Amino acid sequence: MNLAVFVSGRGSNLKALIDAEELKSLINIVAVVSNKSDCLAFEIAKKKSIDCFTVSNEVSSNSLLFTDLLEIFLEKKISLIVLAGFLKLIPAEFISSFEGKIINIHPALLPSFGGKGMFGMNVHKAVFNSSAKISGATVHFVDSIYDNGLIISQEAVDISDVDSYEEIAERVLNIEHKLLPFTVKKIAENKIVIINKRVKILD
Ligand code: GRF
Repeated sequence: MNLAVFVSGRGSNLKALIDAEELKSLINIVAVVSNKSDCLAFEIAKKKSIDCFTVSNEVSSNSLLFTDLLEIFLEKKISLIVLAGFLKLIPAEFISSFEGKIINIHPALLPSFGGKGMFGMNVHKAVFNSSAKISGATVHFVDSIYDNGLIISQEAVDISDVDSYEEIAERVLNIEHKLLPFTVKKIAENKIVIINKRVKILD
């Protein structure tokens, strides 16, 4: 299965997918897309000779438009798009061209602590300030509303003893690095089914 991974920053989830032994025979990451041409994630991708593309919602000389990307993805036969820290809103037309084939990892337990503005440390600060005792990671299908699509997988972590939002971020990131490869594996194995609007993961 050919995958594209969308990133904006350091790319630790991209690295987790690249390094996951259990995915080696199942997936090929054939494109990494970012809205920032100088992100750390591109460095990770380039070391593995993965094609990198910079995308923008506006016409510019050093980036592609989503419509260009669509053509490239069809050519590369991409069947799954993973959003791993991608901070730009993806146009609705692009999303509908890949309906049911785009997933996102969110660093909290949706439907809490999601939506517009809830990204990066903002999420962990909100969780910390709420005094919540658990947080975690969520992988969900992407539709045209931020953090809104059906939840595929989640894992929780105890944060009752933390003293800072940075500590929450660290614990959640550890979970993300396992949950995302696990979920991608299940998708690649065709073990995700939707019954009555609930996503079931088969053994
Ligand atoms: C992760 O916490 C992910 O859940 C969120 O953005 C962060 C990306 O981190 N959507 P990285 O670039 O994968 O290190």
